[in-house]
Amino acid sequence: MPRIVETIVTTCDAEGVPHIAPLGLIEDGANWIIAPFKPSKTLDNLRAHPFAAASHTDDVRVFAGCVTGRKTWPLMATAVIKGMRLKDCVAHWELEVQNVIEDDLRPRFRCRLVREESHRAWQGFNRAQAAVLELAVLTTRLKMLAPEKVENELKYLEIAISKTAGPREDEAWEWLMEKVNAWRDARTG
Ligand SMILES: Cc1cc2nc3c(=O)[nH]c(=O)nc-3n(C[C@H](O)[C@H](O)[C@H](O)COP(=O)(O)O)c2cc1C
Repeated sequence: MPRIVETIVTTCDAEGVPHIAPLGLIEDGANWIIAPFKPSKTLDNLRAHPFAAASHTDDVRVFAGCVTGRKTWPLMATAVIKGMRLKDCVAHWELEVQNVIEDDLRPRFRCRLVREESHRAWQGFNRAQAAVLELAVLTTRLKMLAPEKVENELKYLEIAISKTAGPREDEAWEWLMEKVNAWRDARTG
């Protein structure tokens, strides 16, 4: 399996309006593949304007926020490509689409790294951040997964939150749990 980097992808439509979404970038030699499921705004934007920025952030509220309707995060212009990136990030990449491998479910946009910038020091691993990312992914798949699987994974992920979270991770977890609780309520009626 190729390595996948979970990051915040910003794309722009033909008018230059930015769109933000968490996506996993798939390593492909010196290139990175963006693989959005159909339908998606990221996919439409990549066809209209074949550039993207990948912002690597340790503020996991951005991941949790994007999947819970909180999509307003400060952005700024990228250095080389016409696009936007997260203002507050550890580092960012600027990507240009080289070619598209079409697929009915999930086209793959193979991108060349045209610019890489570091903005501040990396602060080390944190288990609660990883747990937030896992729950964020899980909440995008609630309708597809067996309820017991969701509840079992939650029990495990909660351990890292209770032992290692700081205020940002706690807040991100709360937003995601609101979504999980709405899903629980909808199931039990
Ligand atoms: C950590 C993480 C990784 C994700 N990776 C992908 C991905 O590789 N492809 C995808 O289609 N959606 C992925 N998602 C879900 C998208 O962020 C979500 O569906 C989003 O709304 C994309 O659709 P949009 O471009 O219309 O906003 C991921 C979500 C999270 C939290």
